Amino acid sequence: MELRLDGKIALVTGGSSGLGERFATVLAESGARVAMAARRLDRLELLKAAIEKRGGSAYAIALDVTKVAAIEEAVEKVEREFGLIDVLVNNSGVGVTKPLGKYNEADFDYVMDTNAKGAFFVAQSVGMRMLKRGSGRIINISSGAAINPRPGVSVYAMSKVAVVQMTRSMALEWGPSGINVNAICPGYIATELTRGHLASEAGKKLIATLPRKRAGKPAYLDGLIVYLASDSSAFINGAIIKADDGDHL
Ligand SMILES: NC(=O)c1ccc[n+]([C@@H]2O[C@H](COP(=O)([O-])OP(=O)(O)OC[C@H]3O[C@@H](n4cnc5c(N)ncnc54)[C@H](OP(=O)(O)O)[C@@H]3O)[C@@H](O)[C@H]2O)c1
Repeated sequence: MELRLDGKIALVTGGSSGLGERFATVLAESGARVAMAARRLDRLELLKAAIEKRGGSAYAIALDVTKVAAIEEAVEKVEREFGLIDVLVNNSGVGVTKPLGKYNEADFDYVMDTNAKGAFFVAQSVGMRMLKRGSGRIINISSGAAINPRPGVSVYAMSKVAVVQMTRSMALEWGPSGINVNAICPGYIATELTRGHLASEAGKKLIATLPRKRAGKPAYLDGLIVYLASDSSAFINGAIIKADDGDHL
């Protein structure tokens, strides 16, 4: 059975690097037309060109998800210029690593404004449009840190727990109207967010504690993201899916 997404339009936030870049690529390769939003428009334009070179269709738009008014404007523009969004991959995220006592208000706001508030208002803006049409898929990218935090990432872990409960709330309220809302909790995957830490002595020690003593690659989530975006996941709603190589058992 091959899952295809032909005829669907996806919006991936944080498509300019790491997991989001990979999600946009694999959704496009599965037949979806893919809009990508992030602050670094130059990176999105490069990805758009790469997708188009392989015969896909893509759209790039600059968006800072911490600016709530800009979210509605961007989503409206994507739908007007590219098409109605069937699938949202709500993926933009940032992290700060510090001991508890070192966090200041700016650190807290930076992480929560992006990972919790930004994710909420992106999903609200897209979800309200999906509600009118009676169908849609929202895939929120949480983290293994929402299940078990590790030292140093307290505020990040808090923000990702917020994404888990947001997912359940949206699945509950919007599920009966035909929208499926699920979350993925990835384990450690080498991206711009984690590469520096994973390469450090502390990171190497951390990897040594993982069940298979390895970090993942963005491609390890390919099948899961396509499945959750597809019609085949119709019975999956409100699921919080660990994709962490067996960490946090
Ligand atoms: N890598 C892992 O091990 C791991 C594990 C669990 C969960 N996650 C989650 O996976 C998601 C992707 O992370 P990643 O590892 O791929 O990291 P990454 O390579 O640093 O990508 C993060 C993405 O988020 C975007 N972003 C950050 N702040 C933004 C803002 N204010 N507005 C719009 N976009 C913003 C960035 O784009 P711009 O800078 O261009 O705006 C970038 O495209 C995050 O939610 C992260 O928490 C990652």
